[in-house]
Amino acid sequence: MEHATEKRKRRIPLFLQAVLITLGSYLVYQYGIRPPIPASILFMFMVVTVAAVLLYVSLDDDSLEEFLRPVLTVIRDDRWKIVRWAFMIAIPLIAGWVVYDKTVPKIEPPVTVRSVHPAPPGSINVRGKTYDLRTLENPLRKDTANFTKHVKAGADVYIKNCYYCHGDFLDGKGPYADFINPPPANFQDIGTIAMLQESFLFWRIMKGGPGLPTEGTPWDSSMPAWEPILSEQEVWQVILFMYEFTGHKPRRWE
Ligand code: HEC
Repeated sequence: MEHATEKRKRRIPLFLQAVLITLGSYLVYQYGIRPPIPASILFMFMVVTVAAVLLYVSLDDDSLEEFLRPVLTVIRDDRWKIVRWAFMIAIPLIAGWVVYDKTVPKIEPPVTVRSVHPAPPGSINVRGKTYDLRTLENPLRKDTANFTKHVKAGADVYIKNCYYCHGDFLDGKGPYADFINPPPANFQDIGTIAMLQESFLFWRIMKGGPGLPTEGTPWDSSMPAWEPILSEQEVWQVILFMYEFTGHKPRRWE
């Protein structure tokens, strides 16, 4: 069988094939897998991929030689001097940078596990008035004639008091947000106000981080208690604004 011993002509040189397969696999692992895989798993996948590629190029002497040819040419052939020098400078630089990047100390707050929405107390006391959180509703929702007025007033309350942390798009990215751990709540996210009752927000806004229950501590929450600053009406107004702006609907009593 003459054609079987004949040297196979490859359309893409073997060395380039190996590089493309390795790069392509990296891109698939990094961007093609949802949810994203952790860096340690990605590293393992890459080790296995590179091992498989090396196995493939060294299946027989011919292919190993073909694979090594461009590498040896760059090392030996003086026409490739510039490329050789470029590699000799780049490789230690990249290695040095990777090691530096891995070892340089980073300023990162420690990760603390906290339950995000603790059970609210049955009732709260704000400036001498008791509110039963199990039945409390936003009274302004009944004042339909003045609804837009209340939402506008709520926007004012928000911009004056809340945007520093919770952001002007209510996405938790206010100017202080980078310095706060745990981070300010992102009200656009369906995991916050969209799944909460308005009475829960009333409690959280009035009592803030200090009012969180003792179980699940430490909270380390910088959310201020607004009861000394905002009136009952202002708190209900800012709650209306938060739902109107994000388009979320408060959870209702079933
Ligand atoms: C100093 C920064 C800061 C300011 C100012 C601030 N907050 Fe917060 N807020 C936080 C942080 C941090 C959290 C997340 C930790 C927590 O739940 O206590 C939070 C949480 C909340 C939550 C709970 C959300 C949830 O999903 O449980 C509500 C509601 C809230 N804030 C409303 C407001 C309102 C309304 C204002 C303005 C009147 C305001 N915040 C001002 C920092 C702030």
